[in-house]
Amino acid sequence: MKTVVKLLVLTIVIVEVAAEPCMSSMKEYDPESQLCCDYGVVPKFNEHGQKLDCCSEKTFIVETEICCERDVFKKLTEDGKEQSCCGATSYEKSEKVCCNNTLTDKINGINSCCGSSLINPKTTICCRGSNSNKKPHSIGTHMKCCGVEYYNKTTHYCTSKKKGMVLPLLKSLCNNNEYDILKQKCCTGTLYNVSDSDEQYTCCGTKLYNTVDEKCCDGSFTIPHAAECCEKGHFYPSSQKCCNGLPVNITSSTEECCGNGLYDRPYQECCGNVIYNTSSHQCCQPGGDIIVKLTEYKCCGKISYDSHEDVCCTKHNSHYDTIYKIITKSVENHDTCCVPSEIEKSQSYSSITHRCQLGGIINKTDMCGIHPYNETSDLCCGGVLDKMGLEEGRDCCGIKSYDMTSKICCDSTIYLKTNKLSCHQNSTEFIDVIQRTLPRHRDYGICSYCNLHTIQNVKEFLESPTNLCKQFVLKIAKLTTSMAGNTTTVDGFIHKDLLSQKTFKNTRFNSKYLAHVN
Ligand SMILES: *[C@@H]1O[C@H](CO)[C@@H](O)[C@H](O)[C@H]1NC(C)=O
Ligand SMILES: *[C@@H]1O[C@H](CO)[C@@H](O)[C@H](O)[C@H]1NC(C)=O
Ligand SMILES: *[C@@H]1O[C@H](CO)[C@@H](O)[C@H](O)[C@H]1NC(C)=O
Ligand SMILES: *[C@@H]1O[C@H](CO)[C@@H](O)[C@H](O)[C@H]1NC(C)=O
Ligand SMILES: *[C@@H]1O[C@H](CO)[C@@H](O)[C@H](O)[C@H]1NC(C)=O
Ligand SMILES: *[C@@H]1O[C@H](CO)[C@@H](O)[C@H](O)[C@H]1NC(C)=O
Ligand SMILES: *[C@@H]1O[C@H](CO)[C@@H](O)[C@H](O)[C@H]1NC(C)=O
Ligand SMILES: *[C@@H]1O[C@H](CO)[C@@H](O)[C@H](O)[C@H]1NC(C)=O
Ligand SMILES: *[C@@H]1O[C@H](CO)[C@@H](O)[C@H](O)[C@H]1NC(C)=O
Repeated sequence: MKTVVKLLVLTIVIVEVAAEPCMSSMKEYDPESQLCCDYGVVPKFNEHGQKLDCCSEKTFIVETEICCERDVFKKLTEDGKEQSCCGATSYEKSEKVCCNNTLTDKINGINSCCGSSLINPKTTICCRGSNSNKKPHSIGTHMKCCGVEYYNKTTHYCTSKKKGMVLPLLKSLCNNNEYDILKQKCCTGTLYNVSDSDEQYTCCGTKLYNTVDEKCCDGSFTIPHAAECCEKGHFYPSSQKCCNGLPVNITSSTEECCGNGLYDRPYQECCGNVIYNTSSHQCCQPGGDIIVKLTEYKCCGKISYDSHEDVCCTKHNSHYDTIYKIITKSVENHDTCCVPSEIEKSQSYSSITHRCQLGGIINKTDMCGIHPYNETSDLCCGGVLDKMGLEEGRDCCGIKSYDMTSKICCDSTIYLKTNKLSCHQNSTEFIDVIQRTLPRHRDYGICSYCNLHTIQNVKEFLESPTNLCKQFVLKIAKLTTSMAGNTTTVDGFIHKDLLSQKTFKNTRFNSKYLAHVN
């Protein structure tokens, strides 16, 4: 047995609160008198009234101490020298230099870092590569950085600043091997003895070809210059066609491909892969049946049917594709099909004596509900009469009628054409409710939180009938859920409304749900 849990939102309360949440302890704290450290909430002042701050697992006195990663040090040494952090340790600023967490003795007041080395900027240059790599080099004339490398630009060039790749001028790389661009050309890793600047020769994949004699197909093979590409081969357009990837000889310019063969356009047509005579035959749909014209046979989608015996029923499915069904006539004089919501329940009828309305067959001279009804001027929508409806240009939409010039009916709901031009077009705006469009709720606010946390309660919260993800596109800092009886309470702090871009400082969010278990 399947248990369906439906949620009913009882209350949603959003209030400003005085306290801020401390993420590490999942508690509220007062920023005026307390600190929110990695390990929880602690007092902001020590017993001497000195102001403290967090230092990993400890606290330190702001005025007299420094925090170097995890440890606390005195701001001044015993002899009064100022201390600074170098990674996790402290050092005397007057004695040493800290380069990328490496300590070096100070030399003649030089204190410029290049990665972990101390350099003299007058004589040394620092070349920077990707991922913040750095390398020191002695300054030289005509020299430039290429990533962390340093090269002479009169003899070399930089191929990739990111990777710091230096090559001699007039050399290039082919499959990681250096070659002379005056003598060779590289085609996807293969070298040819033709100068790189010779435009008569071009690459076709790994092959080199002469553009005067040949052309390249698909970037992978060459064909004679006068021909055209035809999948794995070629064809000459003046005397051939490319049919299904094969060249076929033609005898007249009106011939076209049909499958692997040819047909002659004025007299013939192509039905999928089959050629037929247009004056005597008809193609139901490409790849479908071919019927003889002016007989009892007709098309129903791709399939042909005997119109003496059967009628053709059509309907649009939810993807707006047309679906077809051929049914046997219940009475010989029937000429058409009436399709209710399920095409399987279609019935044949005569369009002369009856009409099909909302899937039901009604006598043309019948009543509409309890009212007499004139089928040339009135509209009868599921038994509800719209006097003069047909004459005034309306149509049925479920049991309601609507003005076809300004409105559109999709799935028994009426929309304004200004909001929805066709039923294919997605729109949540139906005639009397104009809603604001919201950002894609999966990516924002509560839902992004919900995507990260697979707590069952959060999932239910997301699936609740009011769909909070669409109603409030809120970024929630902390979310707790608790259950009492059949009521679930969800609690959190709102940081930002992604719709209005408004940020909140101390805004608490609280919501209660009732779970129905069917
Ligand atoms: C800094 O030191 C770290 C660790 O030794 C090293 O991975 C990094 O590349 C260095 N950064 C620079 C800019 O040299
Ligand atoms: C760079 O190359 C030029 C020309 O070969 C040369 O005169 C110069 O000394 C080189 N520079 C360095 C720093 O090697
Ligand atoms: C290219 O030239 C080199 C040197 O002249 C020669 O050894 C090599 O065989 C030539 N390659 C081709 C494909 O002609
Ligand atoms: C197509 O025409 C060419 C030249 O006219 C001829 O050589 C070839 O045999 C023909 N191919 C076929 C399949 O008829
Ligand atoms: C096409 O059909 C018409 C009418 O049946 C006939 O006269 C004509 O010869 C047919 N043409 C071909 C090419 O079969
Ligand atoms: C349709 O209604 C007319 C008038 O009420 C009646 O004469 C006729 O028999 C009905 N036809 C059918 C097929 O029910
Ligand atoms: C039905 O409506 C049409 C158009 O208004 C009118 O000409 C006709 O006389 C009406 N028929 C009856 C039976 O009232
Ligand atoms: C309409 O919306 C549905 C569901 O949101 C979606 O799957 C579909 O791709 C949308 N169609 C168009 C044409 O945007
Ligand atoms: C919720 O629980 C209370 C007591 O536990 C019960 O009286 C009430 O009927 C329940 N409501 C629903 C909708 O299940």
